Amino acid sequence: MIEFELNGTRVEYAGDDKRSLLDFLRGEAGIFSAKDGCSGQGACGACLVELNGRPALACVTLMKKVAAGKLITLEGLPDELRRSLGNAFVEKGAVQCGFCTPGFLMRAKILLQKNPRPSRQDILDSLKLNLCRCTGYVKIVEAIEHAAKVLAGAAGAAVDPNQGIGGRQEKYEAWETAIGRRPFVADLRIPGMVYGALKFCDHARARIKRIDTGKAEKMPGVIRVFTAADIPGERLTGLIVADWPLMVRAGEISRSGADVLAGVAAASEAAARAAVQAIRVEYEILEPLTDMLQAESSPVRVHEKGNLLETCRIRRGGDVDKILAESVYVASGLFRTQLIEHAFLETEASVALPEVGGVRLYSQGQGVYEDRRQVASLLGLPLEKVRVIQVANGGGFGGKEDITTQGHAALFAFLLQKPVRVRLSRPESIRMHPKRHPLLMEYALGCDGQGMLTALRARLIGDTGAYASVGTKVLERAAGHASGAYHVPAADIEAKTVYTNNLPCGAMRGFGVNQVTFAMESCVDMLCEKGGFDRWQFRYDNALCAGRMTATGQVMGADVGVRA
Ligand code: FES
Ligand code: FES
Repeated sequence: MIEFELNGTRVEYAGDDKRSLLDFLRGEAGIFSAKDGCSGQGACGACLVELNGRPALACVTLMKKVAAGKLITLEGLPDELRRSLGNAFVEKGAVQCGFCTPGFLMRAKILLQKNPRPSRQDILDSLKLNLCRCTGYVKIVEAIEHAAKVLAGAAGAAVDPNQGIGGRQEKYEAWETAIGRRPFVADLRIPGMVYGALKFCDHARARIKRIDTGKAEKMPGVIRVFTAADIPGERLTGLIVADWPLMVRAGEISRSGADVLAGVAAASEAAARAAVQAIRVEYEILEPLTDMLQAESSPVRVHEKGNLLETCRIRRGGDVDKILAESVYVASGLFRTQLIEHAFLETEASVALPEVGGVRLYSQGQGVYEDRRQVASLLGLPLEKVRVIQVANGGGFGGKEDITTQGHAALFAFLLQKPVRVRLSRPESIRMHPKRHPLLMEYALGCDGQGMLTALRARLIGDTGAYASVGTKVLERAAGHASGAYHVPAADIEAKTVYTNNLPCGAMRGFGVNQVTFAMESCVDMLCEKGGFDRWQFRYDNALCAGRMTATGQVMGADVGVRA
């Protein structure tokens, strides 16, 4: 028996002493301010609590370490202290998605009780183990400085909610979010809820010869194991192109490590995950296509229709090759950007429950109507039988536009007629949701002797990985922004979206523009170097302004703003 004090109340715990404290707090004690951001890697600080007056990462603290200890979470702080800390974060604009914020509040509390007047460096030093993916750290540091002053007796700035347009307003539900009182999807508890886990494919490309669920079905706590054969409606999902199977069938060839082969619903998440480990899959491992440059010539066809998903072309302003040949200076190069992970702090989670012949789904996705359309299609239901409730998410940045767990949770709940939660661990999140596209960009940019741009030739290839997601739109956007914020009189731009067996790529902040900006700005710098032009003046002279044209030929109106 392990005894300890939790927020002033004595607790007796007779369970597994190697269980993580975070699992106990969230799964048993009803403490949801401590979040799971990194699945027990001790890397994000979202689970921070106070143990015996010191900070402790609950995800890497075993229950046996808590014995005879005094444990404090945000829920256990005196009201006034919690209010002051939360208000300081709200006032300074240090709460965005808020998934990280309870961890920062606990960090601030522990710092200020030891050091009521910390220097900025003291605050920075204290934050080394806390990650925020939305706000940046300046506002968080300011919030802790402000909290220190308020706790020392200074007055906080009350925000008048009736100041009208132009006035300063608090973010919606910011305080509740800061103190961990606004639930995220994984914080929802519904009576009778069971827990799902997914079996991912172990190879980027393999023939799935057999999926043996027999042993998993007999594991303790397991309610049911699901495979593709259980999907009553259309198995393929996708925002633009329906090419991504909710689960891959035995006999088919997998397309990436993001593929799901089966799912388990069980009485606890731990039981579901243990059963997933017991699913045996027989693979015939095949050579994957991983190089986007080989996509068009490779004998590996990721999809039956071929690996070229779309080509987007922009040609205007004359013979670009001729204009480049006649330009006084030409900069050219091959530019490559890499796949980028969003790393939103909240991993994907969905809760679904049966509802009058259909399902109700709590989603943290970035498009409830798209969630609804795809879930209805998977279940073979009319739209009105699927109700999707948006739950504000813990960061998305584009990476939660495609459905991930929504389809599985809805399917399991619909078939079991029970509430089901499906939540991804951090490694699963990284393998499943689409990333920022890696792009290969071949550029040639010319200018005249006075440093005025003449023509751009750009050949872009974007690796959308195994599934289309919004890849075609990303590459269209990349083509449309290939000339950056500059007027280029003639343009010849081609952007190809190709499939490979890499992880799927889709939306991420900037949506293709960041990649081409790197290539374009690099070429501008090279031209400045060749012609001896001032880098600022060159950019100012060529900047878009009223009457000038974007890469697509759109003529700008008065409000361009580049030179402002
Ligand atoms: S450090 Fe504990 S969840 Fe990330
Ligand atoms: S506000 Fe910090 S992770 Fe979103």
